Amino acid sequence: MSRPTKRNLIATLIIIVGLAGSVLGWTYVPIILLPLIPIAAFFGVAVFFTLYPAAPALERAAFGRTAVGRPSAASRPALRLAGAAAAASPGPGPVRRPPARDTAPRPAPRASGRRSNGQAAMLPPDAVVALTEERQAAGVDEVLAALDRQLIGLIPVKSQFQQIASLLVVDRARRRFGLHAARPNLHMCFTGEPGTGKTTVALGMAELLYRLGYLDTPKIVHAMRDDLVGEYIGQTAPRTKYVLDRAMGGVLFIDEAYSLYRPDDPKDYGQECIDILLQVMENDRDKLVVVLAGYKDRMDVFFESNPGMSSRIAHHLDFAPYTLDELVAIGHKMLAEASYYLTDQAQATFRDQMATRMTQPRFANARSVRNDLERARIRHAHRLASDPAQTRSKDELMRLEPTDIQFT
Ligand SMILES: Nc1ncnc2c1ncn2[C@@H]1O[C@H](COP(=O)(O)OP(=O)(O)OP(=O)(O)O)[C@@H](O)[C@H]1O
Ligand SMILES: [Mg+2]
Repeated sequence: MSRPTKRNLIATLIIIVGLAGSVLGWTYVPIILLPLIPIAAFFGVAVFFTLYPAAPALERAAFGRTAVGRPSAASRPALRLAGAAAAASPGPGPVRRPPARDTAPRPAPRASGRRSNGQAAMLPPDAVVALTEERQAAGVDEVLAALDRQLIGLIPVKSQFQQIASLLVVDRARRRFGLHAARPNLHMCFTGEPGTGKTTVALGMAELLYRLGYLDTPKIVHAMRDDLVGEYIGQTAPRTKYVLDRAMGGVLFIDEAYSLYRPDDPKDYGQECIDILLQVMENDRDKLVVVLAGYKDRMDVFFESNPGMSSRIAHHLDFAPYTLDELVAIGHKMLAEASYYLTDQAQATFRDQMATRMTQPRFANARSVRNDLERARIRHAHRLASDPAQTRSKDELMRLEPTDIQFT
């Protein structure tokens, strides 16, 4: 339980005990002594509040960060992207004095970059900020590097990700000088075929927005049509609101968003859900980022039929299907992470295998690679285990042969 709540609870308990004492006292205590009971309760509460004063400002800040706030180091979880280091330093943001040519004596800018509650500190008009250091202090480069390491290819998506990061870093720097502009619209649409990295990038985006203080939490709540839209009258609004409540402060990721809209079905309640989403995307845009995901062509149709939704989406990221070379590289990366490797022959087999997979229905890009490699692990294990008497070297436990990888 949080400290202020606990404190209030104890104070309430003392008052209740005092009241109960008064009631019992009415029966059992001589009438002359009766006023002593509420007086004792009053002193009890006074002594309690003296001994346990209200939480200091820094601790309160952890309960209610402002839109521009940034969590304290203690409250920030480590970066969830693979391979990334711990959360960035909460230390002061970069502040530089103006260049030497500015000789007029000036009062020193307020020294620290961030206030103790994590909010970016205001700067006097003559201060300057170094955006590179600002990015480093917020841990932006760490998030970008982790995403770069984690995902093969996806150059256009990574470049757009960088542009969004730059927009947010500059927006923060502007606000430190008191320059007013509406908070950037951060609702997004990720289009692409299955397994092209949309969810992985959404996780990175949530981390980025959190680190820059645009979200209270880096969490993502995934939702699909069934989570949001009911089958009967009266079910849709509570379902949608429940999901929105869970996602508030973080990212709501709606997969196959176009399935919310079924114009051919007059009894469909999808429009009710869309209307609620539109309202929240507008009114709570500083508390929640909505990411819509799905196939590009179907999403385009959805936006044509729902211009209100289209106008609320600021960033469209298109995830292209992977090339054969990229799929092979993704496979090698996944194997290396799991301490396996392919023999030269197995590499050729794997490449052929992927080329065939790409032509098959239900091919799911990197997810198909992952699934095939999972099956290869099973085959490899079964091959080794089929001769239990045989001893196995470390290399054998890591090495995948063509027979392990050939499925088609
Ligand atoms: N470029 C990549 N490099 C390495 N691994 C990748 C890449 N893209 C995707 N993956 C891996 O493939 C798997 C599927 O990725 P992800 O879930 O992000 O795709 P998705 O686009 O959200 O798929 P879906 O549309 O089916 O939900 C994950 O394990 C992810 O780590
Ligand atoms: Mg996904």
